Amino acid sequence: MNNFIFENSSKVYFGEGCVKEYLSNILSAYGDTVMLCYGGGSIKKNGIYDEVITVLKKENKAVVEFSGIPSNPTYSKVLEGVKLAKESNADLILAVGGGSVMDCCKAISLGAKYDGDIWSDFWARPGVIDFEPLPLGIIVTVSGTGSECNGGAVITNEELKIKTGKDYPQHNAKFVMLDSTYTYSVPEFQMVSGAFDTLSHIMEIYFSEPNESNVSDDISEALMKNVITNLRAAIKNPEDYTARSNLMWDATMAENRIIKLGKKTDFECHQMEHQLGAYTNCNHGAGLAVLHPVYYRHICKAGEKKFAQFAVNVWGISKDGKTDEELAKAGVEALADFIKEIGMPTTFKELGIDENINLKEIADSCGIVPGAYKKMTHEEILKIFEECK
Ligand code: NZQ
Ligand code: ZN
Repeated sequence: MNNFIFENSSKVYFGEGCVKEYLSNILSAYGDTVMLCYGGGSIKKNGIYDEVITVLKKENKAVVEFSGIPSNPTYSKVLEGVKLAKESNADLILAVGGGSVMDCCKAISLGAKYDGDIWSDFWARPGVIDFEPLPLGIIVTVSGTGSECNGGAVITNEELKIKTGKDYPQHNAKFVMLDSTYTYSVPEFQMVSGAFDTLSHIMEIYFSEPNESNVSDDISEALMKNVITNLRAAIKNPEDYTARSNLMWDATMAENRIIKLGKKTDFECHQMEHQLGAYTNCNHGAGLAVLHPVYYRHICKAGEKKFAQFAVNVWGISKDGKTDEELAKAGVEALADFIKEIGMPTTFKELGIDENINLKEIADSCGIVPGAYKKMTHEEILKIFEECK
């Protein structure tokens, strides 16, 4: 294990009925004005809005609504929210949604207490948050990103064509409510893409040094198996509470910093997908599904022993006299087969990306991470993109 400092300040309320049971009580710790933030309106169709607004009214809160937060939230939407939070003197931001709403709200909570340019001071480069952002509470309605329990806020700057996020511990929500029955109404494609995002986060951490025995990798293997089993069950029956509640907690566990402890982490696939998203606005989990097997075919040799371990411990592939090289390749192909099985796209074409898009420009805009088994070059990223067509 490498050295680490661990902190996670978000308080989690997990399970069916948690909003009804605990939200009233939690709200009493905050001031009168609550900025209620959500996306394109799914919460008005599935009853979550009504449930939350009933509690806010009962607690005599003044509610300021901020809606229309898009998937892959933009910096201009963040600035709109910052303006509203300042004008309304909001005491608490209540984010009700998925990764996009959560991320946008984290950025708003920072901007509401900062007079400078938050993009250049906290997203363009790492910054120091030496002040308290506006308190943030989260009610998750679609799981996958794990944003609820970390300080990451992935924002797209449309003008600069950059999608990026940094994990600031001060960005962590004060409280998080996870009722997986709230996710039953999520369309199947989004449910699967969210679960694949979770699997991706775990793999991005697992496939990095150290390779020697370590608790983080052992937990990661258990989590990967749990995602695979429960995603299959959730596809069969979307209202399988056991499956949905496991997937919800898998997502949080993958990104609450616990399995990153002592690990270098990779996240090159996320670098590539984020830039693909900045240029095409593609779905995050689906973009990752296309990229992962192709990327892993490129780095498999460099991380051979770990990919072989993945094949045996996660996919149950028998060693049966096979070399590490054979096992490693079999592990990557088992992942590729699983992606097909769950109905995720496997090519840019299936992802809906225009075949005339300038892939070189996108490849050149991707960040290169330091912790991968094999350090990418922009030329190799372009090759990966070409192979994804
Ligand atoms: O906008 P509404 O109408 O609410 O519809 C949403 C949206 O269309 C819908 N939805 C949410 N809850 C629902 C529902 N539909 C029916 N019933 C419900 N209960 O789901 C759609 C997708 O929502 P979105 O929040 O965009 O999805 P997701 O949670 O996958 O978030 C994606 C964003 O998170 C970022 C991604 O890059 C992307 O921008 N990520 C954030 C991370 C973090 N902060 O830690 C890590 C990730 O790697 C990722 O980068
Ligand atoms: Zn992700």
